[in-house]
Amino acid sequence: MLITYLGHASFLIETGKHRLVFDPFIRGNELTKGKVDFDALKPDFILVSHGHEDHTADLVDLANASGAQVIGSWEMQNWLHQQGIKNTHAMNFGGSWNFPFGRVKFFQAMHTSSFADNSYAGAAGGFIVETEEHCFYYSGDTGLFQDMKLIPMFHDVSFSFFPIGDNFTMDAEQAAMAAEFVNCDKVIAMHFDTFGFIEVDHAAARKSFDQLGKELIIPEIGKSFEL
Ligand code: NI
Ligand code: MN
Repeated sequence: MLITYLGHASFLIETGKHRLVFDPFIRGNELTKGKVDFDALKPDFILVSHGHEDHTADLVDLANASGAQVIGSWEMQNWLHQQGIKNTHAMNFGGSWNFPFGRVKFFQAMHTSSFADNSYAGAAGGFIVETEEHCFYYSGDTGLFQDMKLIPMFHDVSFSFFPIGDNFTMDAEQAAMAAEFVNCDKVIAMHFDTFGFIEVDHAAARKSFDQLGKELIIPEIGKSFEL
């Protein structure tokens, strides 16, 4: 599975046959400028955790350009239909669905959710994705919450994408505890350094994970790595 960091909480994941983009906020991110070719993303599916602009700024354009199916909440689907995006799949918390790339469970997050135009975006969520190669958890923006302990009762998660930026989400210390809750040893950091409130001391973040015997991958924008 090839993972490319697109900045902030955006990733391109190539499963071999399919290209998945998570939470597209790319062209408006100063840190991403010149490092990601937006037109080359060409996703087959776009998974969207919640409505905030730093997760959806490029959603409509990317969906239009690629024809990708957008997976998100019922309210996300309603909003997309109003924007003229018809290829959608709505989910709600606890529910799973088999997509061509694997089985997706939409899981609750502890966060708010609205669009930039202030319209309602449902509640914020995350995704547990089971592909042939790996099962991974993309939490979306969230604080630490006890329900994450439910995940290993049903899923054998090999790695998770967790926010570490603090202020709007968990910090690294809580993200390391989240990995403990989910029972996975490897975490890919997201939602850090993009703007002033979420700048992170990378060495201190790694230390929080070291202390629990977990690995923290701090990805570089525009760079790919295999997991
Ligand atoms: Ni948010
Ligand atoms: Mn956010």
